[in-house]
Amino acid sequence: MLNIILMGPPGAGKGTQAKKLIAALEIPHISTGDMFREAIKEGTPLGKLAASYINDGHLVPDDVTIGLVKERLSKSDCAKGYLLDGFPRTIPQAEALEVMTKEIGREITHVIDIETPKEELVRRICGRRVCKKCGAPYHVINIKPKVDGVCDICGGELVQRPDDNEEALNVRLDAYHKQTKPLLDFYAKKGLLKEFDGTSSAELTPKLLAYLGE
Ligand code: AP5
Repeated sequence: MLNIILMGPPGAGKGTQAKKLIAALEIPHISTGDMFREAIKEGTPLGKLAASYINDGHLVPDDVTIGLVKERLSKSDCAKGYLLDGFPRTIPQAEALEVMTKEIGREITHVIDIETPKEELVRRICGRRVCKKCGAPYHVINIKPKVDGVCDICGGELVQRPDDNEEALNVRLDAYHKQTKPLLDFYAKKGLLKEFDGTSSAELTPKLLAYLGE
C-alpha cells in the first residue's frame, strides 16, 4: 500500500506532481492548502480563520490543521492508500500524523522531498495562475493554457492566488525553513525520506512513479 507524503518548499511542484501521481496510482490527493482554499471559497468559519493566516503567508495553527487531516484520513477512500501534499509542515503535525496513521493502520510508507532552487521558486510562484473552478495550476511562461486566461480542463477562469506575491512568498519560505525543513531529518532518521530534483516536471514524474514501484 502507498501512504505517501510529498514535501518541498512553496513552488517546488508538489501540487503539479501530486495530480499526475494520483491519476496513475488511483489514490486520493489530500492537500491541506487545497482544503483551506476550498473552505475560503465557501466562506465557512474554517475558511475565514484560514484566510487570516494564508493570505499573508503564515501557517494555519497546528490544532486546526491536524483536526482537518484526521477527519479526512478516516474516510473510506484512504483505505487503499493516500498522498498527503503540504502536510505535515511542523514537528507537532508530524507527531500527530504518526499517532493517527497508527490508529487507522495506514502508516506512512514513502516521504518524497522535491528540491528546487530559490530563484526558480520565485519565478514559478510569481508567474503561477490557477483555475478558479478546478484549481489546476498554470504558469504565464512555462505552462500556458491553450486559450489565454481559460483552464484547459474545465474552462474555468485563471486567477492569481492572494499569497502568490513576493512579500507573502518570503514569509512562506521563512516558515518552510524554520518549521518544515526539520521534518526532513525526522523522516530521514526513520529511513522513509527520498529527495528528488524538481527542476524538470517532465523528467520528475516518471522518476517518482519508478520509485513508487509503478
Ligand atoms: P499550499 O497550497 O500547500 O502551498 P505551498 O506549499 O506554498 O505550495 P504551492 O502550492 O505554492 O506550490 P507547489 O509546490 O504545490 O507547486 P505547484 O505544483 O503549484 O499551502 C498554502 C498555504 O496554506 C500555506 O502557506 C499555509 O498558510 C496553509 N497551509 C497548508 N498546509 C498547511 C499545514 N500543514 N499547516 C499549516 N498551514 C498550512 O507549482 C508552482 C508553479 O510552478 C505552478 O505555476 C506550476 O505550473 C509551475 N511548475 C511546477 N513544476 C514546474 C516545473 N518543473 N517547471 C516549471 N514550472 C513548474
